[in-house]
Amino acid sequence: MRELYLDLMKRTLTGALMEDNDSILGGVRTAGSPSLKKKAANAAGSLAQRFGFEIAYKKPYDPALRETGSDWPARSESMIGLKRMQNIQDAISAIIEDDVPGDLIETGVWRGGACIFMRANLKAWGDTKRTVWLADSFQGLPAPNVKDFPADQGDTFYLQTGLSVGEAAVRHNFERYGLLDDQVKFLVGWFKDTLPTAPAEQYALIRLDGDLYESTIQALDALYPKARRSAASASSTTTARCPTRPAGRCTTTASSTASPTRSSTWTATAPTGARPPDGTCRNPRLPGDSYGS
Ligand SMILES: C[S@@+](CC[C@H](N)C(=O)[O-])C[C@H]1O[C@@H](n2cnc3c(N)ncnc32)[C@H](O)[C@@H]1O
Repeated sequence: MRELYLDLMKRTLTGALMEDNDSILGGVRTAGSPSLKKKAANAAGSLAQRFGFEIAYKKPYDPALRETGSDWPARSESMIGLKRMQNIQDAISAIIEDDVPGDLIETGVWRGGACIFMRANLKAWGDTKRTVWLADSFQGLPAPNVKDFPADQGDTFYLQTGLSVGEAAVRHNFERYGLLDDQVKFLVGWFKDTLPTAPAEQYALIRLDGDLYESTIQALDALYPKARRSAASASSTTTARCPTRPAGRCTTTASSTASPTRSSTWTATAPTGARPPDGTCRNPRLPGDSYGS
């Protein structure tokens, strides 16, 4: 039953079940886009919405793209795709089976889909102790700070208002799945302000999805010290949406204690520590660890 529930959740949250792939004018693909064509489409869509209409371009659905999170769903709650959802599921099942202490956190939640899935996993395992932490500005990305983070030069995601989803909307998404309760907590604000003082004592799972180098490195620096050596390694996506930034770059440069990573999809990396057949889980860089996903 657990597998069936989680499988359905993955497919629903990513839009794979509904084959959710319309391009709604005034929606995530056009809102705030700097391109002229999309700006015009956005204006037309926004005007229509004021009169209670929606203009949608019917884009063909490509299951291969949704598998790897290479397109954005119009309405569904997560853009990460099925493979990275599976990565979350595998990590949480290993955390529970190995009894790794600590909470779960995602930095960069958008509509909340990956965090809803984390909470669903805890529920499916009957875990009533751990908290799922959601860290986000809930107002989109910051403009690049090129002086301190030159790798973010030219990034325009901060213009895309489709990436700005308010806390109330995310809470509502949790409610729609029956998963908003006191095991879900929100850290509202810029990572540099919220993460260093976040009240969690330790993390069993850290998922980084803030797109920018700045957002990734700030999250890693703040959170990694609270990932116990015996705890689960970070399951992280990195800033590698931009193909010029190789996946894994942030995790390998952020901290001397960061685990080595492998690429799990085009934008994602996960720690390399494999679970050996005897069931003990060891991260090769951290001798004595009991787990590495
Ligand atoms: C790629 S989206 C996250 C996708 C999400 N994990 C999912 O399941 O679909 C990036 C999110 O990171 C947030 N973000 C990026 N940098 C941030 C920062 N420095 N501080 C706070 N929020 C940030 C944005 O507001 C946005 O919601």
